Amino acid sequence: MILLFGFGGVGRTYAELLYQKTSLRLCAVFDSGGGVAKKECFSWGEVKELLKTARGSVSKSGLGKAVSPDEALDYCQVIVDVSPPNYETGEPSLSLYKKAAAKGLAVVTANKAPLALAFREVAYKRLFYKATVMAGTPLIDLLRGLKPQEVVKIRGILNGSTNYVLTRVYKDGVSFEDAVREAKEMGILEPDPRLDLEGVDPAAKLVIIANTLGHGVTLKDVERRPLQPMGPVTRYLAIADFTAGKAVVEPVRLPPDDQIHVDYTMNAVEIITDVNTILLKGKGAGRKETAYVLLNDTIKAVEA
Ligand code: HSE
Repeated sequence: MILLFGFGGVGRTYAELLYQKTSLRLCAVFDSGGGVAKKECFSWGEVKELLKTARGSVSKSGLGKAVSPDEALDYCQVIVDVSPPNYETGEPSLSLYKKAAAKGLAVVTANKAPLALAFREVAYKRLFYKATVMAGTPLIDLLRGLKPQEVVKIRGILNGSTNYVLTRVYKDGVSFEDAVREAKEMGILEPDPRLDLEGVDPAAKLVIIANTLGHGVTLKDVERRPLQPMGPVTRYLAIADFTAGKAVVEPVRLPPDDQIHVDYTMNAVEIITDVNTILLKGKGAGRKETAYVLLNDTIKAVEA
């Protein structure tokens, strides 16, 4: 019943958890080299075989039938997108979501690009995207619960890998280059690390937050300054001031007692509304954290 679109670190963790924690099953799995499907769904034994395949080679696994995503849409009910973001066009995910919406299928996604580029086109009732921001620390659910309070400003550390790098530099005395290499080895940097280091990833998260609150912001509306260590304690902040109509991602030296100051892969966000100030902290990058939140959204998608 589930079409898994992407079979890298998060996708593989998700597949394992799906079979361990739920009775839901995969009917199709795609990676960069193609995909395989089985109408009656893959057994756990078959998924274990798929998990042994090298990256990009599920279509050579000999399991199920080699298919295109379009064919698989005929018998899958939920699409779970964990493919790498394409910030140029949003494809192939963008087209897949549109086809899924036309068929009334649900989409669960951790892929920020289609939403950051075309939120209003893709955000239909059955699109679940909690995993796109703060690796699923439930900011999106929280924002949805605030109406009719008005959010006037959001200020946050929304990128786990650069926060890890900055913490290693300023707390542990590691060189910037070594810290970046560590973040890459941990699998928390995007496949193209420039997306983190030049702020595209936190800018995309800011766009998704803004649109969740009803502001029609797109990626090109967010000013971005690349990450550079500016002295202790630099943090890479994403700020949206809805009163001023301004959104920016920039390195900032934070005062030590600033309440959004978090270390390593933690994220933090301060939500200032017309009646309250709310602080949310949680892990902002990680395969397991993201996979669990995708699972929560999948269960919601099946029930909706
Ligand atoms: N590269 C992202 C980050 C992964 O560092 O936050 C989670 O969105």
